[in-house]
Amino acid sequence: MIHFQNVTKDYDNQTAIKDISFSVAKGEMIFLTGPSGSGKTTLLKLIYLAEEPDNGAITIAGIETSQLKESGIPYVRRNIGIVFQDFRLLENRTVFENIALALRIRGVRERETKIRVYDALKTVNLRHKSDSYPKTLSGGEQQRVVIARAIVSEPAILLADEPTGNLDPDTAAGVVRIFKDIHAKGTTILVATHNRELYRNTGKRVLRLDSGNLVGEALG
Ligand SMILES: Nc1ncnc2c1ncn2[C@@H]1O[C@H](COP(=O)(O)OP(=O)(O)OP(=O)(O)O)[C@@H](O)[C@H]1O
Ligand SMILES: [Mg+2]
Repeated sequence: MIHFQNVTKDYDNQTAIKDISFSVAKGEMIFLTGPSGSGKTTLLKLIYLAEEPDNGAITIAGIETSQLKESGIPYVRRNIGIVFQDFRLLENRTVFENIALALRIRGVRERETKIRVYDALKTVNLRHKSDSYPKTLSGGEQQRVVIARAIVSEPAILLADEPTGNLDPDTAAGVVRIFKDIHAKGTTILVATHNRELYRNTGKRVLRLDSGNLVGEALG
Protein backbone atom coordinates (compact mmCIF):
# COMPACT_ATOMS: atom_id res chain seq x y z
CA MET A 1 0.00 0.00 0.00
CA ILE A 2 2.88 2.32 0.90
CA HIS A 3 6.41 1.86 -0.34
CA PHE A 4 9.51 4.01 0.32
CA GLN A 5 12.64 3.30 -1.70
CA ASN A 6 15.79 5.11 -0.56
CA VAL A 7 13.87 8.26 0.31
CA THR A 8 15.71 11.38 1.45
CA LYS A 9 14.14 14.68 2.47
CA ASP A 10 16.17 17.82 3.17
CA TYR A 11 14.96 21.06 4.70
CA ASP A 12 17.27 23.93 3.84
CA ASN A 13 20.62 22.55 4.92
CA GLN A 14 19.21 19.89 7.23
CA THR A 15 18.36 16.29 6.34
CA ALA A 16 15.07 15.25 7.98
CA ILE A 17 14.80 11.79 6.35
CA LYS A 18 17.92 9.88 5.28
CA ASP A 19 17.82 7.17 2.65
CA ILE A 20 14.84 5.35 4.14
CA SER A 21 13.25 2.22 2.63
CA PHE A 22 10.24 0.36 4.02
CA SER A 23 6.86 -0.98 3.01
CA VAL A 24 3.46 -1.04 4.65
CA ALA A 25 1.09 -3.75 3.45
CA LYS A 26 -2.57 -3.12 2.70
CA GLY A 27 -4.57 -3.36 5.91
CA GLU A 28 -1.51 -3.22 8.14
CA MET A 29 -1.33 -1.10 11.30
CA ILE A 30 2.18 0.20 11.92
CA PHE A 31 3.82 2.56 14.42
CA LEU A 32 6.59 5.12 13.95
CA THR A 33 8.57 6.16 16.94
CA GLY A 34 11.77 8.02 17.79
CA PRO A 35 12.92 11.14 19.61
CA SER A 36 11.73 14.65 18.90
CA GLY A 37 13.14 15.82 15.58
CA SER A 38 13.81 12.29 14.32
CA GLY A 39 11.62 12.72 11.23
CA LYS A 40 8.26 11.13 12.10
CA THR A 41 6.07 14.04 11.03
CA THR A 42 8.15 14.57 7.89
CA LEU A 43 7.66 10.95 6.93
CA LEU A 44 3.87 11.23 7.32
CA LYS A 45 3.88 14.48 5.32
CA LEU A 46 5.74 12.73 2.50
CA ILE A 47 2.99 10.11 2.37
CA TYR A 48 0.30 12.80 2.36
CA LEU A 49 2.18 14.59 -0.46
CA ALA A 50 2.52 17.67 1.71
CA GLU A 51 6.28 17.39 1.14
CA GLU A 52 8.28 16.09 -1.81
CA PRO A 53 11.29 13.83 -1.43
CA ASP A 54 14.68 15.12 -2.64
CA ASN A 55 15.74 11.62 -3.51
CA GLY A 56 14.22 8.17 -3.83
CA ALA A 57 10.76 6.95 -4.75
CA ILE A 58 7.47 6.83 -2.87
CA THR A 59 4.60 4.65 -4.07
CA ILE A 60 1.12 5.07 -2.58
CA ALA A 61 -1.61 2.62 -3.57
CA GLY A 62 0.31 1.70 -6.71
CA ILE A 63 1.01 5.27 -7.76
CA GLU A 64 4.63 6.42 -8.02
CA THR A 65 4.25 9.91 -6.60
CA SER A 66 6.97 11.58 -8.68
CA GLN A 67 4.88 10.74 -11.75
CA LEU A 68 1.91 12.69 -10.39
CA LYS A 69 0.98 16.04 -11.81
CA GLU A 70 -0.28 18.74 -9.45
CA SER A 71 -3.82 17.92 -10.56
CA GLY A 72 -3.41 14.28 -9.51
CA ILE A 73 -2.54 15.06 -5.90
CA PRO A 74 -6.15 15.43 -4.67
CA TYR A 75 -6.97 12.00 -6.08
CA VAL A 76 -4.25 10.36 -3.99
CA ARG A 77 -5.25 12.40 -0.93
CA ARG A 78 -8.81 11.19 -1.23
CA ASN A 79 -7.54 7.81 -0.11
CA ILE A 80 -5.85 9.24 2.95
CA GLY A 81 -7.36 10.40 6.24
CA ILE A 82 -5.14 12.51 8.48
CA VAL A 83 -4.99 13.25 12.18
CA PHE A 84 -2.30 15.96 12.22
CA GLN A 85 -1.60 18.58 14.87
CA ASP A 86 -1.60 21.50 12.45
CA PHE A 87 -4.92 20.52 10.89
CA ARG A 88 -7.31 21.80 13.54
CA LEU A 89 -11.09 21.98 13.65
CA LEU A 90 -12.87 25.05 12.29
CA GLU A 91 -14.01 27.06 15.32
CA ASN A 92 -17.00 28.68 13.66
CA ARG A 93 -18.55 25.39 12.52
CA THR A 94 -20.32 22.77 14.58
CA VAL A 95 -18.90 19.31 15.13
CA PHE A 96 -21.32 17.99 12.51
CA GLU A 97 -20.25 20.59 9.95
CA ASN A 98 -16.54 20.03 10.60
CA ILE A 99 -16.95 16.34 9.82
CA ALA A 100 -19.39 16.85 6.93
CA LEU A 101 -17.07 19.23 5.09
CA ALA A 102 -14.96 16.52 3.43
CA LEU A 103 -18.12 14.87 2.08
CA ARG A 104 -19.66 18.14 0.91
CA ILE A 105 -16.52 18.96 -1.07
CA ARG A 106 -16.95 15.64 -2.85
CA GLY A 107 -20.57 16.31 -3.66
CA VAL A 108 -21.98 13.58 -1.43
CA ARG A 109 -25.74 14.07 -1.09
CA GLU A 110 -27.18 15.52 2.13
CA ARG A 111 -28.98 12.32 3.10
CA GLU A 112 -25.88 10.19 2.82
CA THR A 113 -23.75 12.88 4.44
CA LYS A 114 -25.97 12.75 7.53
CA ILE A 115 -25.78 8.98 7.75
CA ARG A 116 -22.02 8.93 7.39
CA VAL A 117 -21.32 11.81 9.78
CA TYR A 118 -23.49 10.29 12.51
CA ASP A 119 -21.85 6.94 11.89
CA ALA A 120 -18.38 8.46 12.31
CA LEU A 121 -19.55 10.28 15.45
CA LYS A 122 -20.88 7.02 16.84
CA THR A 123 -17.51 5.35 16.24
CA VAL A 124 -15.82 7.98 18.42
CA ASN A 125 -18.69 8.05 20.92
CA LEU A 126 -19.68 11.66 20.35
CA ARG A 127 -23.08 11.37 18.72
CA HIS A 128 -24.50 13.68 21.43
CA LYS A 129 -22.04 16.48 20.57
CA SER A 130 -22.92 16.92 16.91
CA ASP A 131 -24.33 20.44 17.38
CA SER A 132 -21.59 21.66 19.70
CA TYR A 133 -18.81 24.03 18.69
CA PRO A 134 -15.21 22.80 19.04
CA LYS A 135 -14.36 25.38 21.72
CA THR A 136 -16.94 23.89 24.05
CA LEU A 137 -15.37 20.43 23.89
CA SER A 138 -12.58 19.01 26.02
CA GLY A 139 -9.19 18.30 24.41
CA GLY A 140 -9.95 14.59 24.24
CA GLU A 141 -13.36 15.20 22.68
CA GLN A 142 -11.84 17.54 20.09
CA GLN A 143 -9.27 14.90 19.24
CA ARG A 144 -12.04 12.36 18.71
CA VAL A 145 -13.84 14.79 16.39
CA VAL A 146 -10.59 15.12 14.43
CA ILE A 147 -10.54 11.33 14.13
CA ALA A 148 -14.19 11.24 13.04
CA ARG A 149 -13.37 13.83 10.38
CA ALA A 150 -10.45 11.68 9.19
CA ILE A 151 -12.51 8.49 8.89
CA VAL A 152 -15.81 9.83 7.55
CA SER A 153 -14.72 9.48 3.95
CA GLU A 154 -13.62 5.90 4.63
CA PRO A 155 -10.03 6.38 3.49
CA ALA A 156 -7.90 3.36 2.61
CA ILE A 157 -5.04 4.88 4.61
CA LEU A 158 -5.16 6.70 7.94
CA LEU A 159 -2.16 8.75 9.09
CA ALA A 160 -2.06 9.87 12.71
CA ASP A 161 0.60 12.15 14.16
CA GLU A 162 0.87 11.91 17.96
CA PRO A 163 -2.90 11.31 18.21
CA THR A 164 -2.88 10.96 21.98
CA GLY A 165 -0.63 13.91 22.80
CA ASN A 166 -2.16 15.85 25.71
CA LEU A 167 -4.71 13.14 26.48
CA ASP A 168 -5.03 11.37 29.82
CA PRO A 169 -4.27 7.62 29.79
CA ASP A 170 -7.93 6.54 29.72
CA THR A 171 -8.84 8.87 26.86
CA ALA A 172 -5.67 7.78 25.03
CA ALA A 173 -6.70 4.15 25.44
CA GLY A 174 -10.08 5.07 23.94
CA VAL A 175 -8.35 6.57 20.89
CA VAL A 176 -6.29 3.40 20.48
CA ARG A 177 -9.49 1.32 20.62
CA ILE A 178 -11.01 3.48 17.88
CA PHE A 179 -7.94 2.90 15.70
CA LYS A 180 -8.14 -0.84 16.31
CA ASP A 181 -11.79 -0.82 15.24
CA ILE A 182 -10.98 1.10 12.07
CA HIS A 183 -8.04 -1.20 11.41
CA ALA A 184 -10.33 -4.24 11.83
CA LYS A 185 -12.43 -2.85 8.98
CA GLY A 186 -9.39 -3.06 6.69
CA THR A 187 -7.91 0.44 6.87
CA THR A 188 -4.12 0.75 6.61
CA ILE A 189 -2.96 2.83 9.59
CA LEU A 190 0.31 4.61 10.42
CA VAL A 191 0.64 6.12 13.87
CA ALA A 192 3.59 8.32 14.82
CA THR A 193 4.04 8.54 18.57
CA HIS A 194 6.41 8.95 21.50
CA ASN A 195 3.95 7.05 23.65
CA ARG A 196 5.07 3.47 24.19
CA GLU A 197 1.73 2.58 25.71
CA LEU A 198 0.13 2.91 22.30
CA TYR A 199 2.01 0.02 20.74
CA ARG A 200 2.98 -2.10 23.73
CA ASN A 201 1.58 -5.63 23.41
CA THR A 202 -0.07 -4.89 20.08
CA GLY A 203 2.12 -7.31 18.12
CA LYS A 204 2.29 -4.63 15.38
CA ARG A 205 5.46 -3.48 13.65
CA VAL A 206 7.18 -0.49 15.23
CA LEU A 207 9.68 1.44 13.09
CA ARG A 208 12.20 3.52 15.02
CA LEU A 209 13.66 6.71 13.57
CA ASP A 210 16.66 8.59 14.91
CA SER A 211 18.06 11.73 13.26
CA GLY A 212 16.23 10.85 10.06
CA ASN A 213 17.60 7.31 9.92
CA LEU A 214 15.50 4.19 10.17
CA VAL A 215 17.46 2.60 13.03
CA GLY A 216 15.30 -0.33 13.98
CA GLU A 217 12.17 -2.36 13.66
CA ALA A 218 10.49 -4.37 16.40
CA LEU A 219 7.12 -5.84 17.25
CA GLY A 220 5.04 -3.94 19.82
N1 LIG B 1 9.23 22.99 7.65
C1 LIG B 1 10.48 22.73 8.10
N2 LIG B 1 11.51 23.54 7.78
C2 LIG B 1 12.76 23.29 8.22
N3 LIG B 1 13.09 22.23 8.99
C3 LIG B 1 12.10 21.38 9.35
C4 LIG B 1 10.74 21.58 8.93
N4 LIG B 1 9.97 20.59 9.43
C5 LIG B 1 10.80 19.81 10.14
N5 LIG B 1 12.08 20.27 10.09
C6 LIG B 1 13.26 19.64 10.72
O1 LIG B 1 13.32 18.29 10.30
C7 LIG B 1 13.65 17.43 11.39
C8 LIG B 1 12.56 16.38 11.54
O2 LIG B 1 11.39 17.01 12.00
P1 LIG B 1 10.03 16.25 12.27
O3 LIG B 1 9.01 17.26 12.53
O4 LIG B 1 9.79 15.29 11.16
O5 LIG B 1 10.40 15.42 13.59
P2 LIG B 1 9.45 14.56 14.56
O6 LIG B 1 10.09 13.21 14.70
O7 LIG B 1 8.06 14.60 14.06
O8 LIG B 1 9.59 15.34 15.94
P3 LIG B 1 8.51 15.52 17.13
O9 LIG B 1 8.52 14.21 17.89
O10 LIG B 1 9.06 16.63 17.93
O11 LIG B 1 7.19 15.82 16.52
C9 LIG B 1 13.83 18.32 12.60
O12 LIG B 1 15.19 18.53 12.77
C10 LIG B 1 13.11 19.59 12.24
O13 LIG B 1 13.74 20.71 12.82
MG1 LIG C 1 6.31 15.36 14.85
